[in-house]
Amino acid sequence: MSDQQAQKQAAARAALSYIEDDMILGVGTGSTVSCLIELLPTLKLAGAVASSQVTEDKLRALGIEIVDLNFAGTLDVYIDGADEVNAHLQLIKGGGGALTREKIVAAASNKFVCMVDASKSVEILGRAFPVPIEVLPQARSYVARQLARMGGEPVYREDFVTDYGNVILDTYDLDVSNPVELEKQLNNIVGVVCNGIFAANQADVLLKASSNGVEVLTR
Ligand code: A5P
Repeated sequence: MSDQQAQKQAAARAALSYIEDDMILGVGTGSTVSCLIELLPTLKLAGAVASSQVTEDKLRALGIEIVDLNFAGTLDVYIDGADEVNAHLQLIKGGGGALTREKIVAAASNKFVCMVDASKSVEILGRAFPVPIEVLPQARSYVARQLARMGGEPVYREDFVTDYGNVILDTYDLDVSNPVELEKQLNNIVGVVCNGIFAANQADVLLKASSNGVEVLTR
């Protein structure tokens, strides 16, 4: 097993301490979350709200009841991974394309616990990883031109459609030095459904795994 995979598993194990019996848990998407999902059958969950179809399928396969967010009320805890995280627990997410559903479930939860391996920590978001932006298909070209005017370099994620039937523009070179402002600015472009900057709804708890163990950071 690679060191990175071992870190993902360690972060997932650490996340278990935020889960209580009979809870409806918000469950994210990605390879780190997959490590967590494998551990869930040992718990007594009342059910789970899934942040993607992929996660929903994995949870169902383990016999975990899927709850519609509209009937779940405010969740106590949402647990997910991230593509990048800064010192303020602000994130870039959406490498797996589930950003919109992830942002909805995170927003509807009292506590967002984020699990990362050491490779995900950055000083400034968006320098290495592009900002995924979910766009209505008809607006793709228009939104791409607006992003280019902001200095970004949008790359259409080919052969990929989101759970909501939309497309993704992975956008390089955006200035993410003020994530809160950029998140709002991107949301204001007509045709944008959601963007992968989680700054208004950043993580509340960060479980940051490294070869030295799992560090717990809170905001
Ligand atoms: C899914 O859309 C993403 O937001 C994931 O949470 C993110 O890409 C992290 O994934 P890994 O845990 O696979 O690195």
